[in-house]
Amino acid sequence: MKNILITGGAGFIGSHVVRLFVNNYPDYHIFNLDKLTYAGNLANLVDVESKPNYTFLKADITNAEELAVLFEKHKFEAVIHLAAESHVDRSITNPLEFVITNVVGTVNLLNTAKNAWKNNMEGKLFYHVSTDEVYGSLHDENEFFLETTSYDPQSPYSASKASSDHFVRAYHNTYKLPVVLSNCSNNYGQNQFPEKLIPLFIHNIQNQKALPVYGKGENVRDWLYVVDHARAIDLVFHKGKIGDTYNIGGFNEWKNIDLIKVVCKAMDKKLGRTAGESEKLITYVTDRAGHDLRYAIDATKIMNELGFKPSLQFEEGIEITIDWYLNNKKWLEDVTSGNYQNYYNQQYGEKFIA
Ligand code: NAD
Ligand code: TYD
Repeated sequence: MKNILITGGAGFIGSHVVRLFVNNYPDYHIFNLDKLTYAGNLANLVDVESKPNYTFLKADITNAEELAVLFEKHKFEAVIHLAAESHVDRSITNPLEFVITNVVGTVNLLNTAKNAWKNNMEGKLFYHVSTDEVYGSLHDENEFFLETTSYDPQSPYSASKASSDHFVRAYHNTYKLPVVLSNCSNNYGQNQFPEKLIPLFIHNIQNQKALPVYGKGENVRDWLYVVDHARAIDLVFHKGKIGDTYNIGGFNEWKNIDLIKVVCKAMDKKLGRTAGESEKLITYVTDRAGHDLRYAIDATKIMNELGFKPSLQFEEGIEITIDWYLNNKKWLEDVTSGNYQNYYNQQYGEKFIA
């Protein structure tokens, strides 16, 4: 049995990675370490919480003592690091929180792994999950982000992720820590916190609330279904070359306003509303400060070297996603009302021992 630490597993992408690893690898014991910030929701993992190869650890990556105790106790052989503050708008309001979690937290984790593995790095792996936002904003429509593209982060969020990426590479170069990194484009799918564009708009359409489109809605994002991101992480974890970086994406660019109209149309149909009704909720609002114009990933390397291929087209993925939110009203209600934050206490009570 190999003990694997996944951080941020109660969040959006982390919960899909935890599920995939718990279900597909019975020889791994998956330890999900999460602080359960506003973005952490154990309801995302009800289907795996009683599996014998799964353990939840409530802990904070910024707490070095806590991490040292857990590494000593559970002898992790690999880390998949997803815990982070992840929302650009929050980073504009509170940048320091992003420095503490994303930079200090990542360095703490690197340091703990380095200390725990110092006598034998053989077979160990520190996998850092990052974002395409570290590359900055594209202005020429023929340009794509490559693994070799220079870092040029523009928001406090992307600056904190870029910094954490640099530290991961520094630990590889300086201490020979076996690392691998991936930088993925925007994810969408079930269990995403409804502060991000797609779940927020699904929620607002359902409740006949305004759809706040930043600026003119002309910014472009490159969207990947979250389960496909988890599959790509599985590939990088098992087949990625130590010290390498892999860009993850599915060549799926959408101008915000076009994507929003797709969501509006689909929602009208599913809710039995007159065609065009949801589009009337679109409200153009003041643009996000420093709003990156376009992100677009060139995923050729992971496709050619590791055989990655998205499992579904965007049109199918967005249908599945909308259906999930409509069929999981309780999840959305609990998240928007704050009820989900009681879940940990209700389910685990005092049973939890790190
Ligand atoms: P999320 O905000 O949904 O989840 C983050 C998780 O980290 C939460 O469960 C939270 O409780 C936990 N966490 C936060 N601070 C912590 C701390 N100090 N200690 C322990 N746990 C802590 O984020 P997400 O969208 O699932 O993103 C996960 C990772 O993937 C992040 O590193 C993010 O930068 C990266 N990423 C996200 C996207 C995207 O589109 N969402 C795209 C590419 C990369
Ligand atoms: P978001 O989901 O916050 O992801 P990111 O900023 O990491 O790309 O936003 C996706 C795009 O949608 C981005 O261009 C900002 C825009 N947006 C809106 O227009 N309105 C909103 O309410 C939100 C949350 C985002």
